[in-house]
Amino acid sequence: MSVQAFDVVIFGGGGDLASRKLLPALYRCESTLAPKTRIILTVHREQSAREFLAGSISKMTAFLSDHECDAATLKRFRQRLHMLVIDVDGERGWGELTERLSPHTKITLYYFALSASLYGQASQRLSEHGLISDQCRVVIEKPIGHSELSAEEINARISQYFTEQQTYRIDHYLGKETVQNLIALRFGNALLERQWDGSSIDHVQISLCETVGVEGRFGYYNHTGALRDMVQNHLLQLLCFVAMEPPSRLDEQSIRQEKIKVLRSLRRITTEKIDRATIRAQYQASAKQPGYCQQLGEQSNTETYVAIKAHIDNWRWSKVPFYLRTGKCLANAYAEIVIQFRPVRYNVFSPSAGPLEANSLVIRLQPEESIKMSLMVKELHSSRNKLKPVSLDLNLATEFTGKLSDGYKTLLLNVVEGDKSLFIHRDEIVAAWQWVDPIIDCWRRNNSPLYSYVSHSEGPAAADALLERGGRQWFPYR
Ligand code: BG6
Repeated sequence: MSVQAFDVVIFGGGGDLASRKLLPALYRCESTLAPKTRIILTVHREQSAREFLAGSISKMTAFLSDHECDAATLKRFRQRLHMLVIDVDGERGWGELTERLSPHTKITLYYFALSASLYGQASQRLSEHGLISDQCRVVIEKPIGHSELSAEEINARISQYFTEQQTYRIDHYLGKETVQNLIALRFGNALLERQWDGSSIDHVQISLCETVGVEGRFGYYNHTGALRDMVQNHLLQLLCFVAMEPPSRLDEQSIRQEKIKVLRSLRRITTEKIDRATIRAQYQASAKQPGYCQQLGEQSNTETYVAIKAHIDNWRWSKVPFYLRTGKCLANAYAEIVIQFRPVRYNVFSPSAGPLEANSLVIRLQPEESIKMSLMVKELHSSRNKLKPVSLDLNLATEFTGKLSDGYKTLLLNVVEGDKSLFIHRDEIVAAWQWVDPIIDCWRRNNSPLYSYVSHSEGPAAADALLERGGRQWFPYR
């Protein structure tokens, strides 16, 4: 299936996001791209286009697997790439961009892979040069702002030039196949939906664990931290998909309304509760690598790990904790959602049957996309009723053909098609900050401890204690 021709202009085309995520995603679409589709990378420093583009291709291939990199596809893709030197806050380059886009009849995506503080300025410049028409869409990255106030300032500024319908706030986790599968799983299976509340579910865990560190993004990360970088957006969005009520339709508006209700039902974490409900930590040196502050070259109070016990105050989720955690430089790289069901009401088996484990549903988003349901069964040929937990295992990669992507490919194509159902509305951003801002404020006022963990370990012991207090533990990595 081919996609209509479009132009995508990536502001910040020389940055980490462009080479790590955006170019690989566009490259993976190569076979479906129309011949006239162009990718224009804007940079702010004067340099030779030929060298820059060759460098971009070679950086991009480092993020593709070997079997994806065939010479013919790379050559075709290279021909789509253009480079322009543009000053977002100056005059340089805008005339040339106008010429390149003329007659400006194709769908045009402006992708701001820039610091959020430049979104308004870039939008203004595009408008001043007559580069915004009904055919244009702007894609902006998280986190939008660093607080509710700053997010609203940015949103208000962008909305002077682009309508809400033209504005695509991207969260690449929502492009991951398994996240969309959550909707199918929940609302396509009566079996699950009837159990989907506090009467059957004991608690939920959402873990986004990375083995990578800050990877040269210290300038951004050190004033952002894990809470703003991962929780305010990816983690809360996943929580919304797990917790929301069934939308009446699967369109953008209906889904958004349900997500906003969840965000607004999140219980505010107060100063009295902060140090029992949240854990912040930073990775320290291990034998293999220096710690965060050594890499940064100065002291820093920025968290690279956060774990939170959250509550959703509504009928469905009353008394069901949602444990959220994310961290850099951890032992294993994986993202998963665990729905831990309650134990059976009454154990009819004799002690020799062994312990009865409560059922769990584990939805893994990466590295592989899979859904596992644990059940208790009788061990084959055991003379007594000896029970054993087994797993119903669905690996999406082996069940279906076609490659799974990290989310960007799906979402970029959705922008071209004008499908906003997997993008974030301005009101969601505000509601998410309204829950996150008080946490940051309490940390500051309470002078909350910054725990440490050895890099490439399982994380700080204090995060285990967060669950142990409720008689629970983190679901082990398997
Ligand atoms: C980004 C964060 O949004 O997501 C990064 O800014 C993080 O810090 C990345 O590494 C993780 O994405 P993925 O798809 O690699 O899990």
